[in-house]
Amino acid sequence: MGKESLSITDNRTGKAYEVPIEHGAIRGMDLRKIKVSDDDFGLMSYDPAFMNTASCRSTITFIDGDKGILHYRGYPIEQLSEQSTYLEVAYLLLHGELPTADQLSDWAWKITHHTWIHENLKKFMDGFHHDAHPMGMLVSGVAALSPFYPEAKNGTDAETRQLQIVRLIAKMPTLAAFTYRHSLGMPYAYPDNDLSYTGNFLNMLWKTTEAQYKPDPVLEKALEVLFILHADHEQNCSTNAVRSVGSSQVDPYCAVAAGVAALYGPLHGGANEEVLKMLQAIGSKDKIPEFVKQVKEGKAKLMGFGHRVYKNYDPRAKIIKRMADEVFAVTRPNPLLPMALELERIALQDDYFVSRKLYPNVDFYSGLIYQAMGFPVAMFPVLFAIPRTSGWLAQWQEMRADAEQKIARPRQLYLGSALRDYVPIASRNSEEEP
Ligand code: SDX
Repeated sequence: MGKESLSITDNRTGKAYEVPIEHGAIRGMDLRKIKVSDDDFGLMSYDPAFMNTASCRSTITFIDGDKGILHYRGYPIEQLSEQSTYLEVAYLLLHGELPTADQLSDWAWKITHHTWIHENLKKFMDGFHHDAHPMGMLVSGVAALSPFYPEAKNGTDAETRQLQIVRLIAKMPTLAAFTYRHSLGMPYAYPDNDLSYTGNFLNMLWKTTEAQYKPDPVLEKALEVLFILHADHEQNCSTNAVRSVGSSQVDPYCAVAAGVAALYGPLHGGANEEVLKMLQAIGSKDKIPEFVKQVKEGKAKLMGFGHRVYKNYDPRAKIIKRMADEVFAVTRPNPLLPMALELERIALQDDYFVSRKLYPNVDFYSGLIYQAMGFPVAMFPVLFAIPRTSGWLAQWQEMRADAEQKIARPRQLYLGSALRDYVPIASRNSEEEP
């Protein structure tokens, strides 16, 4: 192969430029030297929604969208979901290596002993209406942690940073469970330090009058796998929000709250909620062809399908689909599953979806499992936010430590009005279009 560079000729001036290629990319700033005159700002690249723009260099998560590959720190998601636990994967994402037994024990102890939230946050939660969406409550609840830990503003101190990371991973399930109990008008159930991370989450959701809640081991394990699958996904919309907001050097609680807000969107973490609504709206298998026709006419989206990066089957969707049977064996089969399977079968044979490389993504089957486990649809994106917190924090930590990163501030292409003078209101012509 030839030299790792681009030779560019600017046809406006006839000038030639050499731009180095590194890791399969050119530096956007190298384009600025391409000018038509000395006072020219220089060339920019225009890339709405960052379809082809790398915002950072990262060593955390690798995705090959064409091959449907997902690795955390080099470990295949298939092996981690089979053999690891969520806390071990969170450690891996944050520290770059799998922990030793002592490191994992210390890490789990720290997380377990930071699960409580300040009692005043209960008053905050109680202020919401009974039917407040739990994601709206979670966005607020995570941001509300910020004033309780003012030392978190010191993001440059490693020890302070690590303590906030532990607090956020530890408290996210507590906040999430509190939003759920609030929606039911039930008293909050407090953390139980004798339980695992996922077992304690189930305890805070579903404990009633028993002395100690005993989580169903199948559901506890299913949540471990689901949490591992949702832990990180390189520069997705919510991670980009965390990195961008975090680049202003605000504390990690506010940066993660921005991630929760982005994840709330129906095109992102809200998709598994939309998949259930879509299946319920279709109603029955015989109505699927009509729905697919509407999608192909652009009147509806096949929620849970498609992905910016995966142009193949999302490896997470494969694992979730496989584990559905285990969950349904201890809950009750989800009557929507046969319809989801039929919808997938039809879509994967239809050129509209195949030509656009639209395959099931992580959200297509996850909602069916969550519903069978007893979660209300509104809790589905909350179940995404809990595990993604470790990924967001690993990405935030990497951004803060990256000497190349500055405050995120993109440029624009200004196509608005040229210079014009103010017009007194008496002289304005109402016929002019605003
Ligand atoms: C997540 O980025 C991540 O990593 C996200 C995530 C993570 O772990 O963080 O993986 C989690 O967000 C998964 C995605 C969940 N969202 C959904 O399931 C919502 C439905 N999917 C689409 O909205 C869409 O596929 C996106 C948002 C996921 C991706 O959108 P892109 O990359 O911007 O693709 P696009 O909208 O440009 O679509 C390309 C074409 C278009 O058709 P044409 O204009 O070429 O005719 O495909 C069509 C789209 O109309 N298309 C769909 C479709 N998704 C894309 N048509 C019908 N149904 C869909 N779901």
